[in-house]
Order: sequence, then structure tokens, then C-alpha cells
Amino acid sequence: MHLPQPTFGVISSFGTSELEKFNALVLPVSASEDGPFIDSGLLVTSVVSKSGLTFKEILTQWPDFSGKAGELLEIPIEQIGNLTRLLVLGVGSSTLEDCRKSGAALGRKVKGTGFSLFSAFTADYDQAVSHIVAISLSQYGWNLKSDYSKSDKSARAKGATSFSFEASQGEAAARATILAEATWFTRDLIHTPSNIKNPAWLADQAKSLVRRAKSPALSVVVKKGRELDKFGGLRAVGNSSPQSAPRLIEISYAPEGSKSWPHVVLVGKGITYDTGGLSLKRPFDLMIPMKSDMAGAAAILSATVAMAKIKPRVRITALMMCAENMVSSTAQRPSDVITQYGGTTVEVINTDAEGRLVLADGLAYADLELNPDYLLDIATLTGSATLGLGKQYAAMYSRNPNFSAKLHEVGDRTGDQVWPMPLIDDYKPALKSSVADLNHDASAKSFSAGSVTAALFLEEFVGKRNWVHLDIAGPARSEVDAGEVIKGGTGFGTRLLIEWLATLS
Ligand code: BES
Ligand code: MN
Ligand code: ZN
Repeated sequence: MHLPQPTFGVISSFGTSELEKFNALVLPVSASEDGPFIDSGLLVTSVVSKSGLTFKEILTQWPDFSGKAGELLEIPIEQIGNLTRLLVLGVGSSTLEDCRKSGAALGRKVKGTGFSLFSAFTADYDQAVSHIVAISLSQYGWNLKSDYSKSDKSARAKGATSFSFEASQGEAAARATILAEATWFTRDLIHTPSNIKNPAWLADQAKSLVRRAKSPALSVVVKKGRELDKFGGLRAVGNSSPQSAPRLIEISYAPEGSKSWPHVVLVGKGITYDTGGLSLKRPFDLMIPMKSDMAGAAAILSATVAMAKIKPRVRITALMMCAENMVSSTAQRPSDVITQYGGTTVEVINTDAEGRLVLADGLAYADLELNPDYLLDIATLTGSATLGLGKQYAAMYSRNPNFSAKLHEVGDRTGDQVWPMPLIDDYKPALKSSVADLNHDASAKSFSAGSVTAALFLEEFVGKRNWVHLDIAGPARSEVDAGEVIKGGTGFGTRLLIEWLATLS
């Protein structure tokens, strides 16, 4: 269960007495070659004056403070009303990256305090959205500690912080709230351990999230059992765990009149646990983070449901390809030949390359049945993707430079960064099999490029569609507790998809 979520709003008047209702005031300070400086407007001046100090006195007392993004001074104020603190926050030069850094520093500083804060931070829309989202994401936490779970809702909510801004920041605060809440939800699903989170559980989560959204544009259909007969990849992987049988969870965003609008199909990898199957992961420690192997499916769910608030003129179908990859007597064997949706046969070489098998069914189903104008898949697909790009960027594959350039731009803007990678035709022979249409392991020819060959495999199932593949094995999870993320699921892709979808209308 997650920690209390912060809330964001605006106040229309910031008269002197108004400011005394807050527990703390935030003073944003910029950095320049000539030293730290502040805005000279009324808003900032009244915040400074509440501290009983002048800005000059503050700088004299803390000569090391430079205004660099994320620097933070906590100055006690002799209590007036509720007010006890001035937080002097470095915002650097207010690039989007700086806005995120300062937001994360501020969010972390007051996490769990239950403070109500007024911030004099004002900026243009994109800057303010980045800053406010970062405040929220930096406060995320999740646990199943018994004392925390047992405490009642109101006791748990006590630690929640609330932030108020000047009225001009209202639109940004509203958008940031949508992005942050969606990302928190993605993180909740990823953090939930796999003894709770099986494909059926994810289907229930999708249904209840859609129900809570109360939008006639949203609906969920869950396919299971015989309805998955044609989905040979999903079945081959998921039948390793008959107790937690596979599900195809299809969420639609289709407002009235949307039949003629562009149709986007999103396909997400939803492996609720990846042991590797009979090709068991070794060393075994590699398994520990594998409850996160459904991060792509979680991101498309949150993003699609968020559309009910943003209301773009697009139609969206999200396909969460959910299965558990286990070791059992019903698990698939290396050398099995399976039939994917649409009839392509695949020789299974390494049961740990399960993600592409479930995605291939989703992509083929989208191509053959759903007539998408845009087809995008997102998956924690290969460890190799992290070798070149590290953990902060997703590897992006596409034959359409306009589509990928757009995602790259939105990625930089939202902080969910993606980098274009090549679909190298020379490596295609790696997909050859002597007994089936394709071999899915793609290591036969020792081309090494595991993330590239996985993408080439997926491309076999997208027909002539306008397609992008995002390999998020790196950024879906963090091993450090810093900035916007804690150790665990990051919710990567949620912000990116929401803002990309919003540009399509
Ligand atoms: N879920 C893993 C990929 C992964 C690895 C995600 C590390 C996050 C962190 C995927 O199913 C997998 O096991 N991929 C194999 C592919 C190989 C067997 C061809 C890999 O990356 O080693
Ligand atoms: Mn695997
Ligand atoms: Zn996997």
C-alpha cells in the first residue's frame, strides 16, 4: 500500500495573513554567474518578508547557497499562525531538468510531514508541470508493513503534504496531478509482489480503475481460457502457471463520435513474474526484481485510463498481455514449436525470452483485427537494452522517423527519456529456424545485439503498421532511492504515453 499522496492547488489571494495559514513557505531562488537571485514580484517579496529576514541577510548567513537546482535551506521562523519554516529552494536556470530536480528535493524534504505549504514558484506551463510532478513522485513510497496496514485511513493520511501555488499555476497543477496520480498507480502495480499480483488480479485492478474513472468512454474486456486459443504465445508462457492462468486485458478509450478518429493500439508486456521458466534465471538473484516484468502493461493501463480526464480526440485500445513465467510440469520446453496469433510458428529456444512471445500475439492481433493508425508496444524486454543506454533511457525502435522523433521530444519534455536504436537488417538471419517460421531466441548467429534482435522478432508481427517498440528493461526499475524515484518500480512510460497521446488530437 502506498504512502499518502500529496495534493496540489492554488490560492487566489496571498495577502499577508493568508500566508500564515501554511506551515511552510517555499522561496525559489535562481542561479546565475553573478550569484543567486530572486524574482522581485510582490509574491516573492511577501514570502521573504514573512521570514523576518531580507534576501540579502539570508545569503550572508548561508554564503555557500548558490541557487543550484535542488539546493535547499530550511530556515526556522518564529511561529506566526501555523507558519514555522521558510524553505529556500534552488531552481538553477529553470530548465525542465532543473525544475524536476528542485521539485524532487522539495518533495523529499517534507515527505511524510503532513505540512501544508505555499510555494512562490511560478513558471511557464511545461516548467511548472515538471516541477509539480517531481514533487509528487519524489514522495512515493510503498510497503506492506503490518503496523502501517493496520492503522486506519485517516491516521495514514496524516503524513500527506499539500502544496499551494499562485493562481497562474492552476492549469499546470491540474495537469501535474493527472500525470502524478497515473504514475503512482503504475508504481503501485509494479511494487505489489507476485504472490498477490497474478494476471487475474491485474484484470481486477484494471476493472476497478476504470470503474472509479466513471467515464462512459472507457471499457474493459478480459479474455481468458478458451478465448485465448489463438494466442499461442500467451498460452505457452502462461500455462507454466495454471493457478495464475494468462489474461489478455483489453482497455478501450472510445468517446462518442471517435469511430473516425485516429486509432492507437498500445501493447504492454505483463509478465507478473519472470523466473525464466525452465531456462531458469541464473544466478538466482537475477529473479528478485522480476515482479517488475509487467511494468509496460501497467503503464499502458494508467495512461489509457488517464485519457478520460484529458479527453484527446483519439481512440485507444490497450492490450495488456498478462502471464506468469514459471517452472512447472506444464511449462513450455526449449525446442517446443508454438503458433502465434495469425499463424506464424515459432521455435522456442530459451524460455526466458518469454516477453516477445506474449507481445507477438498482441501485435499480430492488433495488426490483423484492430486496424491501428499507430501501434506502440512497451516492455521490460531485454537486459541487453541497458548495456548501451544504461538505466535512464528506454531503447526505441521504429521504421518511422517522424513517430520516433515525436516520442523522443515528448520524452525529453516529460522526463521519461527514450533514445532511437537501429533495426539492423543484417541481423535478421538470427531469426532463422530449421523447424519453424522463426526462432525466437535470436542468438543462433551470435550477433549479440539482444535488444535489436528482439525488436526484429517483434517486427515480424506488425505487418505494415506504423509501429514503435520501447524496451524499458532499464528505466522501468530503479536500484537507487534518489530524485523522483525510490528503489523499485519507477512508472516509466506513464507520463510519456499520456503526453504523447494528448498531442494526437
Ligand atoms: N524480463 C527479462 C528482461 C529484463 C532483464 C528486464 C533485466 C529487466 C531487467 C526478459 O524476459 C528476459 O529474460 N530477457 C532475456 C532474453 C534472452 C533470454 C534472449 C535477457 O535479457 O537476458
Ligand atoms: Mn525472461
Ligand atoms: Zn521477462
